Amino acid sequence: MCQKPYLCSLMAYRIPEDTKRAIVEAARIDEVVGEFVSLKKRGANYLGLCPFHQEKTPSFIVSPAKGIFKCFGCGKGGDSVSFLMEHEHFDYVEALRYLARKYNIEIEEQELTPEQVKAANDKESLYQVTAHAAGYFVKNLWESEEGRDVGLSYFRERRFSDAIIRQFQLGYGGQGWDSFTQEALKGGYEKKYLVQSGLTIEKEDTGKMYDRFRGRVIFPIHSLSGRVLGFGGRILVNDKTKAKYVNSPESDIYHKSNVLYAIPFAKREIVAKDMAYMVEGYADVISMHQAGITNVVSSSGTSLTEDQIRLISHFTKNLTLLYDGDPAGIKASLRGIDMVLAKDMNVRVVLLPDGQDPDDFAKAHSTEEILKYLEDNAADFITFKTRLLLDEAGNDPIRRAGLIDNILTSISVIPDEIKRAVYIQECARMLGIAEDDLHHKLNRMFRADFQKRMGKEAAGQPPLAEVPAPAKSEEELHESEAKVWQDTLERELLRLMVNFGRSNTEQTYLDEEGRQEKQLLSVCAYIVMELQQDELSFADPVHNRLFSIFAEHLEREEIPTVESLLLSEDPELRGLVADLASNRFEISKVWECRNIVVRTVQNHGAVLNSAVSKAVLNFKLKTVNDMIGEIAEKIKEEKDENRLMEWIGRKKQLDILKSKLSCMLHRVIC
Ligand code: CTP
Ligand code: MN
Repeated sequence: MCQKPYLCSLMAYRIPEDTKRAIVEAARIDEVVGEFVSLKKRGANYLGLCPFHQEKTPSFIVSPAKGIFKCFGCGKGGDSVSFLMEHEHFDYVEALRYLARKYNIEIEEQELTPEQVKAANDKESLYQVTAHAAGYFVKNLWESEEGRDVGLSYFRERRFSDAIIRQFQLGYGGQGWDSFTQEALKGGYEKKYLVQSGLTIEKEDTGKMYDRFRGRVIFPIHSLSGRVLGFGGRILVNDKTKAKYVNSPESDIYHKSNVLYAIPFAKREIVAKDMAYMVEGYADVISMHQAGITNVVSSSGTSLTEDQIRLISHFTKNLTLLYDGDPAGIKASLRGIDMVLAKDMNVRVVLLPDGQDPDDFAKAHSTEEILKYLEDNAADFITFKTRLLLDEAGNDPIRRAGLIDNILTSISVIPDEIKRAVYIQECARMLGIAEDDLHHKLNRMFRADFQKRMGKEAAGQPPLAEVPAPAKSEEELHESEAKVWQDTLERELLRLMVNFGRSNTEQTYLDEEGRQEKQLLSVCAYIVMELQQDELSFADPVHNRLFSIFAEHLEREEIPTVESLLLSEDPELRGLVADLASNRFEISKVWECRNIVVRTVQNHGAVLNSAVSKAVLNFKLKTVNDMIGEIAEKIKEEKDENRLMEWIGRKKQLDILKSKLSCMLHRVIC
């Protein structure tokens, strides 16, 4: 193994054949995948959320016996090496190198020759030059006199232990203007990649090159698997005229918005504790890790992004923001939080006393004290926000009203209905407002939002339908909304039957040979046929009664009129028919105010056709979605191996059906 433990992971290797074999044999698929995906044991296998596509119920299976993984959702599968290549975008050699490190298999050290460096492709070249730089900075820190005197003593003054300095691969840039650049060019690294990675800055006017990170201490930023993607360089002296940190620019390998500082060092503990702490800075992360609290990562001074939340949510749903108690820290914790709540994460906040940041705090207290403080002071986010805004608003009634809106907006994005209810309860208590009033207001917000979304969908197409197709994925709808949606879809079908049942609708079918065939049917016959052939029925019993009346009439080749339906003895049914029939006229009002009355008359047939197909497709899509949801629940619970496979197969079929329906729906809308 490498003689210098702080350098070995940064060196470039070539791997002999028998070593390759040893590595592949040592790799255990569940351990390899388990580094990136939270896996749950299911019989002889493991089950988890697929990291290659977005899903809410697990269809990703790892089989230790076979040494393979397989996703039944997206179809990806393979062994440990292919997992790493796919997930980490490693090439073959890098995947092996990673496994060798993981399983302590020695690889004969062999630096790349300049020729080998030249042979790599663009992205790989960026990785190589970045890895090389990381090694250079580390070496500089420990082995050059200047590095030790300036860089290392800086870190030691900040009371970073040697072990933590090594673990985080901290380094030193060196005072020379272009020492790194010159060294790298000599090593065969191309100027193009030095500039692209941001390590070297080329002056536009003079073409002179200099090192971006000169004279700074270096914090390398790692990918999930521990590859260096970029750097933050901190200035050593306090100089208000210069930026405290200089960071790598965006490149093919470094995207600030989807990395979390220290994620490879934190992920294991995040899974173990089922919780992650989010702090602001590099130094905060390092001090917390040094104190032994290692489920800590940082968004590096920016507000959290969706990609960062997605990254964390692979490991845990519980996020605690840990910031200094000053106004800036508090503001930072408020920023972007609705987005985190919307991802169904549980967010808590801890503010530290006396404006201390986690770095200060971790150094001033023992590990036990820190843990106790975190435990005692974590407030759920809604409570935190309510308390904060209450303080701010004081007794000003206008500001208090604004505050309620603000908090309800945060609550409204939480997907879980029960969680929402709990928060409402807590808020009502804190604000001294009746719970019902808050529920009321929240529902109004939902309705307004619902209508806004509907409105958006309707633009460009006159809404003959009571509800134009939103084509919104079911998962995105809240449970209560889903009920409303089911009801709306059922009503829409019945509304078309009641009001336009006798009109003809022209629908396109595929015949046995796959040719398109047009068929002219009454709206009523078409809808009844479509639903009966798939054995679909409505959730609402009154809706079902009305539907049966249509079906019965059709068997006698009749179509009931509104007048005859209103003569029914069933009061609920009469109420429904009256309601649906009156809707016909509401629509024309909508059309009038859009000044498209003329067009309406001319295009009546086409609009009706599309409204009818939309209504049918939407209803089918909803049914399929519900079935998928039910099966997903079963997959979660199923203990029996064979039945699990069966469920997964069924779900896959339904997923295909779902995308077919969505596709057809899309065609109707466009
Ligand atoms: N940051 C940055 N550029 C700056 C200032 C800050 O990129 N000019 C980012 C860094 O990722 C930094 C984080 O914002 O880690 C938080 O800033 P700050 O609290 O000032 O930095 P610390 O890491 O705490 O630095 P130190 O304790 O060394 O002052
Ligand atoms: Mn700090």
